[in-house]
Amino acid sequence: MTIKITGTGSALPEKTVTNSDIAKLVDTSDDWIRERTGISERRIATNDTVSSLASKACTNALEMAGRNAEDVELIIVATCSPEFLLPCCACQVQSDIGAHKAVAFDLNAACSGFLFALNTAYAYVQAGLYKNALIVGSEVLSKLIDWTDRSICVLFGDGAGAAFVETSDIDEICENGRKVGVESIVMGSDGTKGMTLSCMERGLANPYVEKIEKVNPYVHMDGQEVYKFATRQVPACISTALEKAGFTTDDIDLFVLHQANIRIIESVAKRLKADISKFPVNLNRVGNMSSATIPVLLDELNRDGKIKKGDRLVLSGFGAGLTYGASVLVWG
Ligand code: COA
Repeated sequence: MTIKITGTGSALPEKTVTNSDIAKLVDTSDDWIRERTGISERRIATNDTVSSLASKACTNALEMAGRNAEDVELIIVATCSPEFLLPCCACQVQSDIGAHKAVAFDLNAACSGFLFALNTAYAYVQAGLYKNALIVGSEVLSKLIDWTDRSICVLFGDGAGAAFVETSDIDEICENGRKVGVESIVMGSDGTKGMTLSCMERGLANPYVEKIEKVNPYVHMDGQEVYKFATRQVPACISTALEKAGFTTDDIDLFVLHQANIRIIESVAKRLKADISKFPVNLNRVGNMSSATIPVLLDELNRDGKIKKGDRLVLSGFGAGLTYGASVLVWG
């Protein structure tokens, strides 16, 4: 038994912030940002929240799948920037969209979050616990960023993407002979490198703590370490996922990767000896939206008709934790 994606959806805040806009805040330039990252602009939330963006993305995904909120059995929201520590964002989404019968919880694997959510839903379905799930990546990272730190504030954007996944008792075989659904999954974590990309919530604070430390509430990153990690670990885990499924890069039609930096994507393509034209990109328009990057790109490709039934896709991401993952699946 496997799962297939039957609907995708996304939601972006209205406000566009260009590189030139950021150059009015910090000592940077459009040229520097584009050359080093590939990003030209990003969307920044001024009214939306992580849950409102997630709910819009879910509604769009359900509409495409032709399903009602009442049908949803499981909601997993991957986020590292929820507006509340409790309740979890998934419960807010459940209430917003009226998915009264669903079990809902959040998952935090930073930028790998959507993949981890997909793989978690897959495992639940395999175990026979649920027949469908809404999986979501939603972030408002703009509130976790020090807008005076040029090394960080140029990189990130806000947004949400969702996918409705379902199982079916009958195998669906495409015209090209491929069976629809997830074919292999790989997930990994290296907690020893956790402080390479971090953001502290709050420190110990109670009447018995001798000295309450002041916490820096913003994202801190060693960019070069993260870069090295991504360019080594992403191709390695994609190779493992391909090996597990019994395929090579030539069998893949599209590589939908986490959209952090164009140079990382180019390096991954090179290491895999795969054609760069198979690596769609939207980071130039939306920046790095952490867990939302993969589902937003997937939804754009899907709605633009750039993914065809029977296409074999690799989804792969990396992020804080440090975490990484890859999935191979055939589109249905
Ligand atoms: N504008 C202009 N100059 C900047 C700048 C900016 N926005 N940010 C940093 N610089 C400067 C630095 O201060 C440094 O100056 P110096 O040489 O005088 O000290 C110089 O540019 C080079 O900085 P460096 O950090 O070496 O640049 P880089 O080539 O490593 O690029 C990143 C920086 C962040 C773009 C790159 O390391 C990266 O993409 N890392 C991965 C980050 C990532 O993907 N994070 C998300 C993970 S999910």
